[in-house]
Parts: sequence; structure tokens; C-alpha cells
Amino acid sequence: MWANHRLLLPVFLLMLVVFVSCIALSTRASIETADKGSAADPKLADGLAAWEQVYSVLTSPRCINCHTATTYPQQGDDRHRHFANVIRGPAGKGVPGLNCVSCHQSENADSTGVPGGSNWHLAPLSMRWQDTNDRPLSSGAVCRALVDRSRNNGLNASGLLKHHEEEPLVLWAWNPGRRPDGTMRTLPPLTHAEFIAATRTWVDAGTPCPRAR
Ligand code: HEC
Ligand code: HEC
Repeated sequence: MWANHRLLLPVFLLMLVVFVSCIALSTRASIETADKGSAADPKLADGLAAWEQVYSVLTSPRCINCHTATTYPQQGDDRHRHFANVIRGPAGKGVPGLNCVSCHQSENADSTGVPGGSNWHLAPLSMRWQDTNDRPLSSGAVCRALVDRSRNNGLNASGLLKHHEEEPLVLWAWNPGRRPDGTMRTLPPLTHAEFIAATRTWVDAGTPCPRAR
């Protein structure tokens, strides 16, 4: 009994050394995994790169002209205010006497230069991708708006992908028809197929958004 007592201190010290080295090792390991997670996760990096491609389309004139932060739609590649004082109205469809669909049909009218598509109207303000001075929002801000289900009509990631694949007003951007002067409207910077591939890569990576910018 008394002999064992003399062993207590060395045993205790040994255990202390083992304990402290365990903690040191595990902290180091977790710092290393955290580094890997932010810098070298290939899927995350691919997802963020794909998002930048998606963003380049969203902020191109054919899309962003309907995703305004003001009371009116925009027109043309210079995104000027819509002519004739057309305004948003309570549901994005204009006001009595100046409804969007009184001019915009379900197809482009190339003889007059009025673009057309099913249920032509402005995106709600919660889906604006520019500020009130008509400057496109940052990539991070548009990304966070897009994935926020309280702002995007309840779309989850696969709903967003489907919207990009099938929504007639999205498809219109790749078939935008002729301007009133007879020239063709310009297209978004990617083909529709490239746009879908980029959206899919972003969705598969868990719709990551760039850090606040
Ligand atoms: C008085 C007829 C008229 C009304 C009403 C009207 N539009 Fe237009 N809209 C036009 C014409 C014509 C053009 C083509 C102008 C051009 O390309 O120079 C046009 C172009 C546009 C474009 C530009 C497409 C592009 O990318 O260049 C958008 C977006 C648009 N209208 C949205 C709307 C919305 C939304 C409403 C309802 C809130 C609306 N318009 C109401 C006649 C109208
Ligand atoms: C003629 C106007 C118009 C054009 C052009 C247009 N949109 Fe939209 N967009 C809308 C409207 C309206 C909604 C809301 C639809 C709803 O919720 O029913 C919307 C909603 C969306 C949403 C839903 C989520 C969110 O947060 O905004 C996405 C994504 C979207 N549009 C992408 C695009 C892309 C990509 C393009 C161009 C390739 C485009 N839109 C061009 C009118 C337009």
C-alpha cells in the first residue's frame, strides 16, 4: 500500500504529459482540416467558379432589364429606362391602360420590335439584381438573394435549376428577337446549354456563395 503511494506522482505526471500532447496534436489536426476545407476543396472551388458564370448571365441586359430595383423596366444593352413611362404597377404587370401584355404578346413581334414571351412582366423587387442607381449588385449579393427562399418564391436548388432550364422568360433571352430598328438583340454571354451546365455544377456543390462583398 505505502509503496504504491510513492508511485502516484510519477504516474500522474506521465498522464499529464500524454494528455497535453493529445490536445496539442488534435488542435493541429483540426487547424489543418479547416485550412483544407476553405482553400482546397475542389467541389467548392468548382461551384464558386460556376456561380461566377451564372452571375455573368443574370447581370447581362436580357435578364437584368426585368430584375430592376426601380418602378420601371429597362431596355436595350445600355439598360435605359423603358420608353413611354411604362411603370411596374402593383404586381409587376403595369397599370390599367398601360399593361405589359397590351404591347408584349406571347411571341416576339419582329415587325414592330416588341419582344414577347408567356406572361411578360417584371420580376418582383425581392428579386432585384441591381441597386436604385442601376448598378448590378455584387456577385455575393445576387447569389444570396437567389438562394433565399423568402425572396425567390420558395425555390430550392433544384427549383432554381428547373427555372433556368424551362421558364419561358428565361428561354426568351436566347431568342430575344429584333429591335424596332430591325437589328437583332444581343444574346447573354453563355449559350443556354453552358448556362445550364454552370447552374448544375453550382447546385451540385450546394449553391455556395462568395463571401460578403
Ligand atoms: C406601349 C407598349 C409597351 C408597354 C405597355 C410595355 N412595353 Fe416593354 N417594350 C415595348 C417595346 C416596343 C419594346 C422594344 C424597345 C426597344 O427594344 O427599343 C419594349 C421592350 C421591353 C424590354 C426590353 C427588352 C430588352 O432586353 O431590351 C423589357 C424588359 C420590357 N419591355 C418590359 C416591359 C414590362 C415589364 C412592361 C410592363 C410593366 C412593359 N414592358 C410594357 C413596348 C411596351
Ligand atoms: C420579361 C421579364 C423577365 C426576363 C426577361 C427575365 N426574368 Fe427572371 N423573373 C421574371 C419574373 C416575373 C420572375 C418571378 C416569377 C415568379 O416568381 O413567378 C422572375 C424570377 C426569376 C428567378 C427566380 C429567383 C429569383 O430570386 O430571382 C430567376 C432565377 C430568374 N428569374 C432568372 C432569370 C434569368 C437567368 C433571365 C435571363 C436569362 C431572366 N430571369 C430574365 C421576369 C423576367
